[in-house]
Amino acid sequence: MSPSTPPLSTREKAELVAGSGFWSTVASESGGIRSIVVADGPHGLRLQRAGGDHLGLGTAVPATCFPPATGLASSWNVGLVERVGVALGEEARAEGVGVLLGPGVNIKRSPLCGRNFEYFSEDPLVSGELGAAWVRGLQSTGVGASLKHFAANNQETNRMTASTEVDERTLRELYFPAFESIVKREKPLTVMCSYNRINGVWAAENRWLLTGVLREEWGFDGLVMSDWGAIDRMVPALAAGTDLEMPGPQRDSADAIVAAIADGSLDEAVLDAAVSRLRSLSDRVGPPVAVPEPYDAEAHHDLARAAAVESMVLLRNEGGILPLSPTERIAVIGQLARTPRFQGAGSSQVNASRVDSALEHLRAGAAEVTFEPGYSLDPVGNSGQSLLRAAVAVASAADVAVLFVGLGEGAESEGYDRTTLELPADQVALIAAITAVQPRTVVVLTNGGVVSLEPWHDSAAAILETWLLGQGGGAAVASVLLGPEFPTGRLAESIPFRLQDNPSYLNFPGDGDEVRYAEGVFVGYRYYESAEVPVRYPFGFGLGYTTFGYSDLVVSRDGRDVAVTVTNTGERRGAEVVQVYVSAPAVPVRGPVRELRAFDKVWLEPGESRRVNLRLTDRAFSHWDSPSSDWIIERGDYEIQVGPSSHDLLLRETVTLAGQRAQKPLSLDSPVSDFLEHPVTGPLFRKAAAGRNKDGPTEGGTSVLDMVSSMPMRRLLRFPGVPVVAWQVRALSTVANLRPVRAIARLFSR
Ligand code: GLC
Repeated sequence: MSPSTPPLSTREKAELVAGSGFWSTVASESGGIRSIVVADGPHGLRLQRAGGDHLGLGTAVPATCFPPATGLASSWNVGLVERVGVALGEEARAEGVGVLLGPGVNIKRSPLCGRNFEYFSEDPLVSGELGAAWVRGLQSTGVGASLKHFAANNQETNRMTASTEVDERTLRELYFPAFESIVKREKPLTVMCSYNRINGVWAAENRWLLTGVLREEWGFDGLVMSDWGAIDRMVPALAAGTDLEMPGPQRDSADAIVAAIADGSLDEAVLDAAVSRLRSLSDRVGPPVAVPEPYDAEAHHDLARAAAVESMVLLRNEGGILPLSPTERIAVIGQLARTPRFQGAGSSQVNASRVDSALEHLRAGAAEVTFEPGYSLDPVGNSGQSLLRAAVAVASAADVAVLFVGLGEGAESEGYDRTTLELPADQVALIAAITAVQPRTVVVLTNGGVVSLEPWHDSAAAILETWLLGQGGGAAVASVLLGPEFPTGRLAESIPFRLQDNPSYLNFPGDGDEVRYAEGVFVGYRYYESAEVPVRYPFGFGLGYTTFGYSDLVVSRDGRDVAVTVTNTGERRGAEVVQVYVSAPAVPVRGPVRELRAFDKVWLEPGESRRVNLRLTDRAFSHWDSPSSDWIIERGDYEIQVGPSSHDLLLRETVTLAGQRAQKPLSLDSPVSDFLEHPVTGPLFRKAAAGRNKDGPTEGGTSVLDMVSSMPMRRLLRFPGVPVVAWQVRALSTVANLRPVRAIARLFSR
């Protein structure tokens, strides 16, 4: 764009803020804006050369299919996820893609969400840390991320119309933090706003969300694009902070924008800001490379396999049946062993460059392997009985049965939710039949969202949860079952005994028009642990082929620095995910009994010990205070809890924090407690109250004022005998509200 270039017309600008097609933005030579190609998705490049659909239906160029987020999250390995991000960027770059549409960091509010395979966790720290690593890796290659779906899009049912009804504290403490930490730390080039409404306002038209929170509070300086087909009216969307409508072109939107600017209902500066962000994006992404740098597909497949190894979670291993001995006679049962399901359906679906099968690799690694499909994944498959009988026969004749079960392609997907956690009935029947004749049965699960392990759990000698493992999963499962690999994954989502135990159960998926997040922040382990609802396996849980011990917990006085020694107390190499939870005082707001605030994964040889140091931020001790719209650290005792899961806290230390309560301005409407806590009025009022108590403080050391602490001052003054009157309190409040006065008083009150 040379200085002599005439400025863009309003119409030209209006046509820039919608895609030029399904997967690209509009170029404007005079505007100095290059067209950018965008493509899905979070665990592999889904680039459609011709046509376009946002549901993964049409063909795409071959690419490496890495484990979807549900698997990667179970690795709890930030470095690994970053390496996957780099590989994704290399493949996107090689194909001329400027923005890869991911990561998805929506919280797993219900295990039924059809898209949970594409999201990381029920916990915002795991989602944020791993999502940040994904963005860091991807953007290091020059390809932009599109952090999605912002926000509160935690189900597929009516995702394009329903309103998420949720209080601000729940958004701030649970549904925002992953987005917030990634935006602040990694500066994703784009954010994708979600389809749904939030408290009645479309995400795409939600100025509080896209401008107030995202830009003004979090400092986001990138571009906001809509989800595909999420725009109803581009004029209010632009005004709210949406910069790009996808897909395009959208003539009617351009017409509406031009008309709104002409009639003064839309400030042209808003359109200019969107165009400027498009220009900035095209500058930051840079032009497609003239001669694409080929990527090392073999190396990417190896990385996908390594990621798959770390994504598995060993839940049960009775008698140490795993790892298997290669000389054992192994009966492999289950269609999923031969034709693996390795990713979810929908926009993220990758045309995998190759796919490993567990059966093939088990046959290669073990002396004697028999196989039977056991069931049909085809909905109208053959009768189960003949398949079941054949499977029972091979299981009976073997030393061990490895039974691959799970959810088929259609059971879970973007676009719709599940209605049950159960495995298909024919597979549950097969598990019963196999375990009845073969006590040494290993159940290998393939599923994107949590499935129920009931009622067959106790009859399985071992259970390996593999989630969806990407194209390298088959080889990875075989190498973990036979060794030398070993499982190191941990649950990033709780496994309940029953669907009804899940806190969202009565409010999922809502009544069609609205979905109430009535459980508030009590999602996943935050609920199960607080309400003491037992689960089959807790968040953070996972076994290895060895054991670990914890010792010497040391916590700094301010609680920010935590150190603990972890020892491999077993006979084999392993990895432990050290988890640090904080249990905050239960007042004045009721919060979860504990929340994950830091974690680290360490690999240890048998007998090896490692000092693990973890750092907690202020946010680890804060809660969102709605009246003051601010984060607050309450004064009180905080317990630092360290262990291998949200339910197993082996070492604990308590720190007492003075608190950083945001001082609300005093007024006659303030509760007495605010006056008592204030560094200026607190001492004055306590002294006055002490003078009134002839016999000193009441029993237990509280004063009369403590007993009326929640009463608005205005009402206390109406009591006969109170020694101050309204004008005096008003004058004192005016002085006390002055920051310098407060600061000085605080100095003296220490
Ligand atoms: C889909 C998805 C989004 C995807 C986009 C483009 O509907 O919600 O995640 O990136 O459209 O396919």
